[in-house]
Amino acid sequence: MTTTRTLQVNPLSPEPSVIAQAVEILKRGGLVAFPTETVYGLGGRALDEAAIERIFQAKGRPARHPIIAHVEGEEGARGLSAEWTERASRLARAFWPGPLTLVVPRGHALPSSISGGTDSIAIRAPAHPVARALLAMLGEPLAAPSANRYQSLSPTLAEHVLKSLGGRFDLLLDAGPCAAGIESTVVDVRGDRSRILRPGALDLLQIRAVDASIELTSSTAAEDEERPSPGMDARHYAPRARLIVAPDAEAVDVARKHLEGGARVGLVIRGAETAISGVTVRTLSFDPKKYASALFATLHALDDHGCDVIVVADPPAEERWLAVRDRLARAGS
Ligand code: TXA
Ligand code: MG
Repeated sequence: MTTTRTLQVNPLSPEPSVIAQAVEILKRGGLVAFPTETVYGLGGRALDEAAIERIFQAKGRPARHPIIAHVEGEEGARGLSAEWTERASRLARAFWPGPLTLVVPRGHALPSSISGGTDSIAIRAPAHPVARALLAMLGEPLAAPSANRYQSLSPTLAEHVLKSLGGRFDLLLDAGPCAAGIESTVVDVRGDRSRILRPGALDLLQIRAVDASIELTSSTAAEDEERPSPGMDARHYAPRARLIVAPDAEAVDVARKHLEGGARVGLVIRGAETAISGVTVRTLSFDPKKYASALFATLHALDDHGCDVIVVADPPAEERWLAVRDRLARAGS
C-alpha cells in the first residue's frame, strides 16, 4: 500500500503549484488520479512501462484490457499512432478536446502493455481544465483508465476514487464532480467504416453529423469493465448492491416485492418525486445527459446507504439513451 495524498484544485482555473506537484510525482513514475469531463482517471506516464504496470496493479485489472492514452490534441495523437487518417482527423477536429476516444493503429513509441498486447491504441484529448493543465505541464501523454477497481463503478467524485483505490496510488486531484458523469464514447476508426465500441458521453447523433460511416456493433456488448461484481475484492468492505433494471411501469412493484422479501431496497426512477415507505427513492432527470451525469453518483450513494438491491426503472429504448442503457445493462447483468 502507498499513502494517497489529496489536493484540492480549482476545476476552472487549476493552480499551477498544485499541477506542478502532480507532474513531479508522474515524472518519478508515480500515479495521479485526476478529473476529466467524463469520470476521474488514474494517470501514469503512457511512455513508461513500469507506470502502466502500476496502473494495472492498482486497478486489479487483467493485462489484456487496453488503456486509453490521453493527449492535449490531434498533434499528440498523431505522434502515438502508426496511421492517422483523414477520418480520424475530422473527428478529432470536431470533438476534441472532449469525450471521444479514437482507436487507431499503435505507433512504436508506446509500450505494447498499454494496448493490452494488441496493436491498436485508444486516444482521447480530455476537455477538463485540470486534465488539460496536467497534460500541458507534463508535456507527455498520460495513460488513464477510469479510477476504480476492476469491474466496479466509475468515479464521478473524488470520494469515489478514494473509496475504490485509496492507498493504491500517490496523489488525488480533487476538483469536485465530473460534468458528464459517464465515460467517453469509444470509436474504432481503423476500418472502412467507423465503429462504436462503447457508447458514451458523446452522442451518436453528433458523431453521425461529422462521420456518416459510423455504425454500432455487437461488440458494444464486449466491454465488461463497469459491471459491479459482489465479493470480487475482499478489501472492499462497502456492500455491493444487486442492480435490477425493471420495466418502467413495474419498477415500483419490483422494489416493493424485494422490500417484502426483507431486502434493503433503493429505487431509481425518472421524473416526479415519489415516496415509497421503506424504500430509498432517488429521482433522476427525463433528460438523458442530466440523467447520465447523476447516475453513477446515485448508485454509489445507494451502495453506501447499505442497499442490498437497487431497482432502476428502464429508460426509453431510444438512441439518445444508448450510453445509459449500456451501463445499466452491464451493472445489472
Ligand atoms: O471517459 C473515459 O474514457 C475515461 C476517462 C478517464 O478518460 N476512461 C475510461 O477508461 O473509461 P477505461 O480504461 O475505464 O475504459 C477504456 C475503454 C474500455 O472499454 C476499453 O475496452 C476501450 O476503452 N479501449 C481502450 N483501448 C482500446 C483499444 N486499443 N482497442 C479497443 N478498445 C480499447
Ligand atoms: Mg473503466
